[in-house]
Amino acid sequence: MEKIKQIYEGKAKKLFSTDNPDLVIQEFKDDATAFDATKRGTVLNKGIINNKLSEKIFELLAKKGVPTHFVKRLNDRDMLVKKVEIVPIEMTVRNIVAGGMAKLLGLEEGIVLKEPVLEYHYKEDKLHDPLINEYHVKALGIATDKELETIDKYSLKVNEELKKFFDSKGIILVDFKLEFGRFKGQIILADEISPDTCRLWDKTTKEKLDKDRFRRDMGNVEEAYQEVLRRIMDI
Ligand code: TMP
Repeated sequence: MEKIKQIYEGKAKKLFSTDNPDLVIQEFKDDATAFDATKRGTVLNKGIINNKLSEKIFELLAKKGVPTHFVKRLNDRDMLVKKVEIVPIEMTVRNIVAGGMAKLLGLEEGIVLKEPVLEYHYKEDKLHDPLINEYHVKALGIATDKELETIDKYSLKVNEELKKFFDSKGIILVDFKLEFGRFKGQIILADEISPDTCRLWDKTTKEKLDKDRFRRDMGNVEEAYQEVLRRIMDI
């Protein structure tokens, strides 16, 4: 499958049309941004690592009954995916207090939550992806009741499966962000799942193995991503 024309460029990925109107190619870049792209940089080989990790995770989730946009990985940086209409919600799932939740509620990072917290953020960089609730989602027609029910159900299922999976690799799944899309009338999981979109802590040392190393200028960003890849691929 060949790239025909670039149709979108995001902060970490580009999208290209193909000769099949239902399929697009998602290219993973090494570019990294944080704080609504006020901080910019690159992480060497990040695109290659995130492409491989997303492939592995989407395959796992599909086996567990969560439909995804993933079709196949084409090469180091390119992934063939179903062309969806993205629902403009950044769905955040949290198991442990960190980042935005620590800030919002004045809490210490590391508090283990009694149950997972689902947060909807309206996907609009200009507004800094504001936190909204289900009433906003429904009243503004961002998603229907039925779509939201499906999005919640899949998000909790992704959390259960990925918590188990990462745990088996010695990694704590602290929190993560998902995006969903509409494809032929169905809600499916889209975007990527990678250390860009998850907080991953080493189970024994609690060392951060994710994009917080870039956000917080902690160094060894590429090494951390490589370490996640090594553990996930059992290499
Ligand atoms: P937060 O604590 O900053 O709200 O982030 C929650 C999770 O979502 C964390 O795993 C990082 C991820 N995330 C993204 O994937 N994209 C974003 O733009 C932000 C702010 C967070």
